[in-house]
Amino acid sequence: MKVLATRRYPGPAFEELEDVEVGSLSARDDVQALIVANEPVEAKLFPSLRLVANFGVGYDRIGVDELGRRGVAVTNTPGVLDAATADLTWALILAVRRRVVEGDLRVRAGEWTGSWADGFLAEELTGSTLGIVGLGRIGSAVARRAEGFELRVIYTRSREGTPIEQLLAEADIVTIHAPLTPETRGLIDARRLALLRDGACLVNTARGEIVDEEALIAELVSGRIRAGLDVFAHEPNVPEPLLSLPNVVLTPHLGSGTRQTREAMTRIVVDNVLAFERGDPLVTPIPA
Ligand code: 8YV
Repeated sequence: MKVLATRRYPGPAFEELEDVEVGSLSARDDVQALIVANEPVEAKLFPSLRLVANFGVGYDRIGVDELGRRGVAVTNTPGVLDAATADLTWALILAVRRRVVEGDLRVRAGEWTGSWADGFLAEELTGSTLGIVGLGRIGSAVARRAEGFELRVIYTRSREGTPIEQLLAEADIVTIHAPLTPETRGLIDARRLALLRDGACLVNTARGEIVDEEALIAELVSGRIRAGLDVFAHEPNVPEPLLSLPNVVLTPHLGSGTRQTREAMTRIVVDNVLAFERGDPLVTPIPA
């Protein structure tokens, strides 16, 4: 089976694919399976396509509806990236809350010239309230880690838990772990951002489009809130106003980016391709 992969995906499992080519998603009539990292697939460019194996749990950009209409199966990589993404979420929470990057920049700039016993203060983490938007696999892994920091945890999950408005108004730290769907696109809009407490911290390791990015920028420029952002609405473009703000920590979509996790993701991708080739059930099909 002819497989086209958008890059050489990390780890030894990739070598198990026999007829794989690495290249861009331009028209091909011989390709039966694609391996992508949430890149849009123009189904009509691949008339022989039968499988799209996504390297990632989120598949919001692929165009699954059109693929489904053409009878193309789609798989993703759920489960294996929960710990890595939860860890990066905590790295951002801690960095933002304790002003780690600001401190680093000041040391490098030679601005540490005396004791900061009376200044450069951050907000305590222990005892604060963490609001989790989306308590699925990743959100739950974030919640488990919160126990060690003695946080009060509140959450929303579909229609369960604390209503979103109340969560935004009560939490000291809000972290987003929902998938991007028509329901969650723009979920945290200007009106909801305004509910955040002064000094609150918003962390997003899910999808940029869940937050109204323009409204978020306005809140951050005003200095009223702080943020840790791993995802953006138009990746890899990061809005220019964010680049000079001290109250924002920026990372380049690194949630699942550990060697172990990325290799485990490749393993699942390859297992799906091999299962498809053999005519076996797919390992992690996304619902049609
Ligand atoms: C990316 C992700 O797929 O799993 C997801 O939904 O966003 C990530 O794991 C990965 O960074 C490759 O782009």
